[in-house]
Amino acid sequence: MKIFLDTANLEELRKGADWGIVDGVTTNPTLIAKEGKPFAEQIRRISEIVKGDISAEVVETQADRMVQEGRELARIHPNVVVKCPLTREGVKATSALSKEGVRVNVTLCFTPAQALLAAKAGAYIISPFVGRLDDIAYTGMDLVRQIVAIYNNYGFKTQVLAASIRSPVHVVEAALAGAHIATMPLKVLEMLFNHPLTDKGLDQFLKDYQKVFHEAPVEG
Ligand code: E4P
Repeated sequence: MKIFLDTANLEELRKGADWGIVDGVTTNPTLIAKEGKPFAEQIRRISEIVKGDISAEVVETQADRMVQEGRELARIHPNVVVKCPLTREGVKATSALSKEGVRVNVTLCFTPAQALLAAKAGAYIISPFVGRLDDIAYTGMDLVRQIVAIYNNYGFKTQVLAASIRSPVHVVEAALAGAHIATMPLKVLEMLFNHPLTDKGLDQFLKDYQKVFHEAPVEG
């Protein structure tokens, strides 16, 4: 499963990229606005930090305008994946852009029926929003499982990206469900590393070694 960072913040991206395990980035208008920089400039800066897909979302709402905006976004950098919302107009724009070879991430997906439409339109990625469904007392991960099953039934190539991830449990469940990608805030990625037995074990290993050799580095 690919790991994407769900942020447009350059410091967070640098930190995550340094670990060598980040495969891509997702942004949305909220995340871009938070950084306060011109959209294209911010996407270019992100592309210098993370070598992988970068989702950049359209803010137009009519299909023809989304297509125009999508083409412009795709021209910013070859790694840009254009994000379109799962509306009638968004699906129409997805179909048009996909036919032109522009890769589209269809976002704001909350039902398996919507995901089916996105795949039919040729989406490169579908983004079911797990956390936002949990927020309204629905098990968001069920949606990921249903989409994976439907896509497998028919051999759709659309990748399933578990979005709106809020915890390490979400990440593990997305992987078990067969999601191709999980996008998460840096805070959640950091949490994936943690286990007290890892810290305790390492501490003991180093103490035992130092008791005998007095210095930490192993000499060659
Ligand atoms: C990513 O593509 C989505 O925009 C993002 O995961 C939404 O997450 P949120 O529900 O935490 O805002």
